[in-house]
Amino acid sequence: MDKPKVYVTWRIPEAALDLLESHCHVTVNPADRALNNDELLAAVRGCDAVLCMLTDDINDAVLAAAGPRCKIFANYAVGYNNIDIASATGRGIYITNTPDVLSAATADLAFALLLAVARRVVEGDGFTRAGKFMGWSPLFMLGREVSGKTMGIIGAGRIGQVMARRARGFDMELLYTATSPKPDFEAATGARYVDKDTLLQEADFVSLHVPLTPATWHLIGERELKLMKQTAILINTARGAVVDEKALVAALIAGEIWGAGLDVFEQEPELEPGLAELGNVAITPHLGSSTVETRTNMGLLAARNILAALRGEKPPNCLNLSARNQ
Ligand code: GLV
Ligand code: GLV
Repeated sequence: MDKPKVYVTWRIPEAALDLLESHCHVTVNPADRALNNDELLAAVRGCDAVLCMLTDDINDAVLAAAGPRCKIFANYAVGYNNIDIASATGRGIYITNTPDVLSAATADLAFALLLAVARRVVEGDGFTRAGKFMGWSPLFMLGREVSGKTMGIIGAGRIGQVMARRARGFDMELLYTATSPKPDFEAATGARYVDKDTLLQEADFVSLHVPLTPATWHLIGERELKLMKQTAILINTARGAVVDEKALVAALIAGEIWGAGLDVFEQEPELEPGLAELGNVAITPHLGSSTVETRTNMGLLAARNILAALRGEKPPNCLNLSARNQ
């Protein structure tokens, strides 16, 4: 029997491609860029499985183009707001993501941004490189203390809970929101379940760890930014559109909050006008999961999901188990 056909929409670490190639005929997008919609439609046609990126818009037309042989689209990301899950379910196509393997790396980056903003690392680096450092002085470039402060975790899911453990290491108090209270998490960390407004009013650091859904779009806007302390710092490593970026830039300029650390943006890769000129922000180009180890593990997980689906099994990280039950 012919080997199943797998299309990979952007080159990923070799270990994952090797695993797929041991069982499948694999085609990888040869260009080092995301495919546009027309290219995607042509590329997935007739495939048994597709390994796709968060930069790919997996809409109904793309799922239809893959055709009746297709069993799975495995997203190389934990977030899956780029995929029309309902359409995939209707078409009997499994959708999977890559949870857990990237939680530590993403929380590490969130904490790196938090420390960078609080202690003015990026600003200080630029200042020093520019030859402006004239010597130590008592009131120069004062930041904000991190240890012992209050951390507010919005969305205590997998990544949020790992972030909370990082915060515990800095002797921080913990507040969190989630869709429901998490007694085990509270017992392990001492975190307190509060409503969003209380968290925003009390936290010194607010870190976002929710998926992007219609319910979390612009979860942090003008009203929420006004609730935050003037000394507070906002960290976003989730999805850009969880924050109303225009409102954020206005709040940073007005001094309504002290700073922000951002790894994700509403219109990636575009930045909101004014953002890059602000000294009290640290910005990174969507690097949450970008370590050699994590990107390899994400690839292996996506490949295992594909191989399971091709064997006729339910893939381990399936987001729509009902897809092939109808
Ligand atoms: C990255 O943003 C991911 O969702 O994995
Ligand atoms: C700072 O450099 C100190 O020695 O306190």
